[in-house]
Amino acid sequence: MQKRIKVKSPGRINLIGEHTDYNNGFVLPAAIDKYIYIDALLRDDDVIELFSVDNNQSYTTTTHALAKSPMHWPNYILGIVSELQKAGYNTKGFNASIHGDIPIGAGLSSSAALECATIFALNELNEFDIDKITMVKLCQKAENNFVGLQCGIMDMFASMMGKANHVIRLDCRSLEYEYFPLQLNDYKIVLLDTQVKHSLASSEYNTRRKECNEGVALIQQKYNEVKSLRDATIEMVNSCVKNDNVKNRCTFIVEEKERLLNGCIDLQNTNVQAFGKKMYITHRGLSELYKVSCNELDFLVNECSKEEKILGARMMGGGFGGCVISLMHQDFVESITQKIAATYKDQMHKNLKVYVATIGNGTSIVNE
Ligand code: GLA
Repeated sequence: MQKRIKVKSPGRINLIGEHTDYNNGFVLPAAIDKYIYIDALLRDDDVIELFSVDNNQSYTTTTHALAKSPMHWPNYILGIVSELQKAGYNTKGFNASIHGDIPIGAGLSSSAALECATIFALNELNEFDIDKITMVKLCQKAENNFVGLQCGIMDMFASMMGKANHVIRLDCRSLEYEYFPLQLNDYKIVLLDTQVKHSLASSEYNTRRKECNEGVALIQQKYNEVKSLRDATIEMVNSCVKNDNVKNRCTFIVEEKERLLNGCIDLQNTNVQAFGKKMYITHRGLSELYKVSCNELDFLVNECSKEEKILGARMMGGGFGGCVISLMHQDFVESITQKIAATYKDQMHKNLKVYVATIGNGTSIVNE
């Protein structure tokens, strides 16, 4: 009998520290209790037979003929097979069926969850014995090289390494990380899903990376020691970067880095109020300086800011759609979200989806 395994890997939220991962900064993500599941079975030949339950679509290829699929979802799985091969781990053929309850395109990292679930399952089935951090790095490479999004490491790290009731403070330069218990008193993390994903998302994302690199190159001409925006100060940005766009991008990243470190102190002191204020400031920066927001996200954050029972709100993830993450008093979640949904419908002509986030564990085997 061939070996078979079922693995689940979660979506993620990020409390603060946006677009800082690929600038070697810090992030503060956590895994949530929404998952991608993979049910995989090793074969004796080199055939890869994939089935997406949610799309009711199949895709078949072989380990020796990996190429991008026009169907998109297989690419996250094939990207993992390809990166494993490059690292010297040659999987046998396999059958895999996937499904999940992470909303797609909502900025909750369903793609990273699929990559983590795939690599975890293939690692177990083939007995490769790859450690979790190496798996996280291979997932990022799969997305960068096979899918083509130059994303940072945050999403995969959170999905693989998440811990129930804790946020992860991850240093994206050294990959050192620390789990923080998340104590928000009477407040809940509520996600407001705009239900839009603008087509700009991946092209503008890659452009932001280039703009940040341009900023680093300019700063390096004077300050050789600066290897990434993580090492830069506002004074350096002001004195070296003249182009307005590049300057704005760099300013946001340098400020966000400090904001996150101070935000961690707020959380340690259970000063949810102070933390919430920082979320609003992050949103303003993402919208006005980093320019990755959109009308729907700005609208929702503005509505949140009118509510006394919401301590903070901001767009979350790459941007151009997806979710707003907010801190809402637990007794008012129902009434406030109903009100905001009605205004959103009225003024933006779209339906709002609401999720109350529960912080769960990272990638794991499902025992049936
Ligand atoms: C996306 C990317 C992450 C990160 C965020 C923005 O989710 O996949 O690597 O850069 O955007 O913080």
